[in-house]
Amino acid sequence: MSDAPVTITITGAGGQIGYALLFRIASGAMLGADVPVRLRLLEIPQGLRAAEGAALELQDAAFATLAGVDVTDDAATAFDGANLALLVGARPRGPGMERGDLLAANGGIFGPQGRAINDHAADDVRVVVVGNPANTNALIARASAPDVPAERFTALTRLDHSRALGQLAATLAVPVGDLRDLTIWGNHSATQFPDVSHATAAGRPVPELLAERLGGVDAAQRHLEDEFIPRVARRGAEIIEVRGSSSVASAASATIDHVHDWMLGTGDRGWTSAAVVSDGSYGVPEGLVSSFPVTSEGGGDWRIVPGLELDAFARGRLGASVAELVDERDAVRALGLI
Ligand code: NAD
Ligand code: LMR
Repeated sequence: MSDAPVTITITGAGGQIGYALLFRIASGAMLGADVPVRLRLLEIPQGLRAAEGAALELQDAAFATLAGVDVTDDAATAFDGANLALLVGARPRGPGMERGDLLAANGGIFGPQGRAINDHAADDVRVVVVGNPANTNALIARASAPDVPAERFTALTRLDHSRALGQLAATLAVPVGDLRDLTIWGNHSATQFPDVSHATAAGRPVPELLAERLGGVDAAQRHLEDEFIPRVARRGAEIIEVRGSSSVASAASATIDHVHDWMLGTGDRGWTSAAVVSDGSYGVPEGLVSSFPVTSEGGGDWRIVPGLELDAFARGRLGASVAELVDERDAVRALGLI
C-alpha cells in the first residue's frame, strides 16, 4: 500500500447517496485497494448526526484502506487539503419536478463550496458535482474558484451513460461489456442527448444492429427517437415514480466510476461520458459545463474525444440541450450566483 492517504471530501455525506458512496470509497473500489483514503464528511447541522453514524459504521467495517474519517459542518475544515471533492449535498427533486426547478434551492450551496475549495483544497484538487442541477451547480462552483484550473470541475453524467448502456444491451440482447463508444451530450436533464451513432457492440456498429433487429433503418430511428432517448433522458423521473425517491445506489456507483476512470484511466474500454467545462468543442459555448464523450489516460485529465461527425439530427438534439444550459447559466447569473 502507498503511504500518503488521498483526502476525499464528500458533501451531503449524511444523505442517501452519501451513505451508498462512503463504504465503496473506503473499500478501495474508487481509487484501488492499495490506495489509503482519508474521508472528510461535510454536512449541514441537521445532517451531522447521520454523517456521524456513518462514520461509526465505517470504523466498524475495518477497511484496510481507510486512514481516517472526520465529520464537520464547516466547509473550510472539510475541504482543507482535499485532493478530491464529491459535491453531493443538495436537495433531491420530488415527483413532478424537473431538475432545473432545483436551481434556486440548491444553487446557493455551490458558490460558498467553490470558494472553500479555492481557498483550502490541495493544489491537485478534482471536483465532481452530483447535486442537481449538476451541470450548472458545477458552473457556479467553478466561477467561485478562480485559482483552480477550470478543467478540474466536472459534473456527473456517468449515470445517464450507464443507463443508456443498460437500455441498449437489453434491446440488442448483448452483454453490457460488449458495448462501447456511446455518448451522452449536453445537460443532465430531460434534454440530454444519448447518442448511439458511433457506438459498437462486439465491434459491429450499433445503428446497423438496431436496424437488423427492429426491421429496418426507419424503425431503428423511430425506436431511438420514441423509446431509447426519452427512456434514458427521463429515467431519473421513472426511478422517482417507481421507488418514491430519487436514484441512490446507481448514482453512487456512477460517481465511483466517474472518479475511477478520471484518475486511473479509461484504458481500452473506449470513451465514456462526463460533463466538463467546454473548450468550445462541437459548438458548445466555452465555459458551459456540458456532457461530452471523454477519455482519460489517468491522473485526472479528461480529454474530449475530437472530430466525431454529428448529423443534422444529432446537432439539433445537442443544440437543444446546450440552449437549456445557456438558460440555466443566465438564470443563475440573474440570481447573482455567478
Ligand atoms: P438526500 O436528501 O438524501 O441527501 C442530501 C444531503 O445533503 C442531506 O443529508 C443534507 O443534509 C445534505 N446537505 C444539504 N445542503 C448541504 C450543504 N450546503 N452542505 C453539505 N451538505 C448539505 O439526497 P440524495 O438522494 O443523497 O441526493 C443528493 C443530490 O444528488 C440531489 O440533488 C439529487 O437530485 C442528486 N442526484 C444527482 C444524480 C446525478 O446523476 N447527477 C443522481 C442522483 C441524485
Ligand atoms: C437521476 O438522474 O436519477 C438524478 O438526477 C435524480 C433526479 O432528480 O432525476
